[in-house]
Amino acid sequence: MSASFVAIANLKGGVGKSTTTLMLADGLAYHYGANVLVVDFDPQANSSQMMLTERGLQMAYEQGKGVVSLLDQFADGAPPNLADLILPNAVTLDELRKAEQKDQRRGWISILPSHPSLRFSEMEVEERLYGQGRRPSELASDLHRHFAAALEPVKSLYDIILIDTPPYLSPLARAGLMLAETYVTPTLADPVSIWGTKQFSDWMAGNIAADIATRNFIVVTRFKNTRYARDAEHELRTIYLKNRQFGPTIPESVQALQAMDRADLDSYNTMRGKYGNLRGDVRRLSESFAGFLATRMGITAPQLVRN
Ligand SMILES: Nc1ncnc2c1ncn2[C@@H]1O[C@H](COP(=O)(O)OP(=O)(O)O)[C@@H](O)[C@H]1O
Ligand SMILES: [Mg+2]
Repeated sequence: MSASFVAIANLKGGVGKSTTTLMLADGLAYHYGANVLVVDFDPQANSSQMMLTERGLQMAYEQGKGVVSLLDQFADGAPPNLADLILPNAVTLDELRKAEQKDQRRGWISILPSHPSLRFSEMEVEERLYGQGRRPSELASDLHRHFAAALEPVKSLYDIILIDTPPYLSPLARAGLMLAETYVTPTLADPVSIWGTKQFSDWMAGNIAADIATRNFIVVTRFKNTRYARDAEHELRTIYLKNRQFGPTIPESVQALQAMDRADLDSYNTMRGKYGNLRGDVRRLSESFAGFLATRMGITAPQLVRN
């Protein structure tokens, strides 16, 4: 059984893409025993930072791990090779680590991390290839081919591959979108985010996935329960994104900030300690998404059965 590829994507920044990536990774590993690979395609490296801390992602970079090295392989014309670039441990939940120590692994998270220098590596590749007369869409396709070939030999090791993407459509970002079979789109219930979400959806339909509506899972995040936000959410469900599957609405909570903030590379937290009163939301999000994969996509990985 090969992993299912999921991009967490929206053209709007700050809508909770990286936070949703983190919650899905934790929720699917913790509640379903899924073996998750997180691929961070955003040079902002937020999901890498949340899982590895800043020190950890710097160490990974210095050891030649991560997406930067994958892009270097591409730039050098080297054969794609991913196995050595993945960090096999991006677990922050104590329960998962303890089970592993007792040889009773019940869900795990690995990561292909990003690093801020990805921005510059990407610009260098772009400059060189555009100088040779290549076009952005060709570069996106070439990158997609390289990444798909790199993932091919390792994808059977994972149940699910979560690709966190940046809020724009650079060739690297497009390659990430092209890898995915399903799209998780976090959005806020406000007009500016709805606008960004709609643009994303229209662009995807025209360029990458004509059937995006059936493969799109929407998560309204940072929800403040006001009349205004309720109306905006209602419009999203009934007008702009009708026929999409909606996951649970995630409330605005300082717990989300705490969950993002790993103290150090060797510090772990329980599900309760990390997510507090958001842990029910993490569970509902993973349940709802596993249900979406099963019913809409026909993906019923045996590993995605609830623990
Ligand atoms: N449910 C939430 N409640 C409060 N703050 C949140 C919540 N989800 C995300 N945030 C915060 O909102 C900001 C943007 O979230 P992030 O996941 O980084 O978005 P993106 O990846 O789309 O740019 C971050 O500071 C994050 O901590
Ligand atoms: Mg992000």
